[in-house]
Amino acid sequence: MKVLGIDIGGSSLKGAPVDTKTGELLAERHRIDTPARLTPEEMGAAIARMAAHFDWKGPIGVGFPGVVQGRVVRTSANLHPGFIGLDAVEVFERAAGAEVSLVNDADAAGLAEATFGAGRGVQGAVLLLTFGTGVGSALFVDGILYPNTEFGHVKRDGESWERFVSGAAKERRGLDYAAWAGDVSTYLNVLEDLVWPDLIIAGGGISADHAKWFPHLKIRSRIVAAEFLNEAGLVGAALHAARAL
Ligand code: BGC
Repeated sequence: MKVLGIDIGGSSLKGAPVDTKTGELLAERHRIDTPARLTPEEMGAAIARMAAHFDWKGPIGVGFPGVVQGRVVRTSANLHPGFIGLDAVEVFERAAGAEVSLVNDADAAGLAEATFGAGRGVQGAVLLLTFGTGVGSALFVDGILYPNTEFGHVKRDGESWERFVSGAAKERRGLDYAAWAGDVSTYLNVLEDLVWPDLIIAGGGISADHAKWFPHLKIRSRIVAAEFLNEAGLVGAALHAARAL
């Protein structure tokens, strides 16, 4: 099946047509920057522009950075609050004139890694974390996803851990890799005590630099970098659509 995968992020949308049998991109990835916070209607228009860029009429899989239950967005920590409680599938389908499926962005990235990447064939508990604008999580048991884990919002002193350890937080706090990895270790130790993962997969842009920070980690689980790097979200969104539509 061929699906247009779109990954909605904090500052851009990334999209490409995906062959869901192989996970391969069928055209070069396209990016639409969203410096301002888009309303749901504006996001629909951006999705329609993405489809138009690829002259796409087929199904679309969208990864969204918040809790997604069926067609409805439940949380929107880093995007427009107008998404909360909204049937976003309806808004996006109306804008794009195509069938749309919706999934949490980290769950999408996890689906790509579990199917084609660093988690392929791994049994037991696999925890994928994306370190980007926020921290996203996807938890798998023997390859099956437990949806909408929101481990970026586990609290430290009343604030979400993603405020301290996301890729954006590293920049905002002016931390070098060693200092940031110290906080990441404390965070991962909290998660380790909760879900005892057999394997942690680190994703998000910062995972490309894993050689600079993995050696500083003090954790008991095995950790590897995501294989898809920045494309996991859109590939997984397409995979989810192929299963759901
Ligand atoms: C959201 C998650 C999302 C993560 C990464 C968090 O703030 O609550 O749903 O997966 O950011 O985008």
